[in-house]
Amino acid sequence: MFASDTEHRRGNQLEKTKLVRIFDKQAAQYDKRREDPKQRKWREKLIGSAAGDVLEIAVGAGANFPYYPSGVNITATDFSEGMLDKARKAAKHYRLNVNFICSDTEELSFPEQSFDTVISTLSMCSYQNPMLVLRNMRRWCKPDGKLLLMEHGISSKAAVSAVQKTLNPLLYRFTGCHHTRSIMDMIRGADIKIEREESYWLDMVHVVWARP
Ligand SMILES: C[S@@+](CC[C@H](N)C(=O)[O-])C[C@H]1O[C@@H](n2cnc3c(N)ncnc32)[C@H](O)[C@@H]1O
Repeated sequence: MFASDTEHRRGNQLEKTKLVRIFDKQAAQYDKRREDPKQRKWREKLIGSAAGDVLEIAVGAGANFPYYPSGVNITATDFSEGMLDKARKAAKHYRLNVNFICSDTEELSFPEQSFDTVISTLSMCSYQNPMLVLRNMRRWCKPDGKLLLMEHGISSKAAVSAVQKTLNPLLYRFTGCHHTRSIMDMIRGADIKIEREESYWLDMVHVVWARP
């Protein structure tokens, strides 16, 4: 029993090391896409709702930085130093007050009800245990705070989801993202109270305003 637990942990660690490498390699690409017009309208309205002390998990190269309202204090985390390096430069460029933490989201710990706004964009596709992360987001958010999410997952359209299921192993290997997760079911399963939801791209992308 002990041996298999240890092997399991070691397997997870190896998988994480590989994932960090995959995301480090993509940092320059993410840096260039920061003001990508395709995602701009979604990010603009979602991130425009942020207020107060903000936690943004898996911040990447700072794709949301152009859209933060003034006056927010941001804590931004990611496990890829390559991504954080780009995000630090972007924070300066957009004159944002950001405290960066290099950490695996699945190992982060904050006191309960620490933040006014907790944000995740395009990160639930990567975690080994996304439900743990969603439940933690809820715990770290103040009771009257906001949870803001923009995530991609499996489409409700049969033809689209069939393609996603076929391509998923290959896409995960090269990009570190799962494409078959049922995002809205996961959010509801974490007891997060959804106030508004918008779906795009054949129901593959969900933009969500919620409360803990
Ligand atoms: C698809 S990118 C999205 C980046 C950014 N949030 C955005 O909206 O463009 C996924 C990000 O999650 C980070 N990530 C993935 N798994 C992680 C984990 N377990 N802990 C911390 N960061 C993680 C990656 O390094 C990468 O920056």
